[in-house]
Amino acid sequence: MTSSETPTQSYSEKWYWDDRYTNESEPFDWYQKYPSLAPLINLYVPHRNQRVLVVGCGNSAFSEGMVDDGYEDVVSIDISSVVIDTMVKKYSDRPQLKCAFSLSFFWF
Ligand SMILES: C[S@@+](CC[C@H](N)C(=O)[O-])C[C@H]1O[C@@H](n2cnc3c(N)ncnc32)[C@H](O)[C@@H]1O
Repeated sequence: MTSSETPTQSYSEKWYWDDRYTNESEPFDWYQKYPSLAPLINLYVPHRNQRVLVVGCGNSAFSEGMVDDGYEDVVSIDISSVVIDTMVKKYSDRPQLKCAFSLSFFWF
């Protein structure tokens, strides 16, 4: 099965994302990169010391962009332990950014 044939339902499955991140390690932002959304984030999260939860972070550079923008407490979670292992190693020198394996039950 190719990715274009993957049923949408698989997007909520851990095995699908573990497999995908095992084969695709390059950072990828699905929607928008942080700089283009920064004005909205700054508007709705005006205090840089507020804790921010990024659900389903993948290997996107979005959380890193927030930290570069001055946010001091960003917690990124994802259902894929494969991508979280990568992100924990990548950001081990950034105490403002914590990455954790977690299953969000509020998923659309
Ligand atoms: C389409 S990717 C988006 C990645 C990133 N947020 C971006 O914008 O580039 C969806 C991500 O959500 C994660 N995910 C899927 N179901 C989840 C759940 N129930 N809880 C937490 N993360 C989940 C997947 O592992 C995947 O990394």
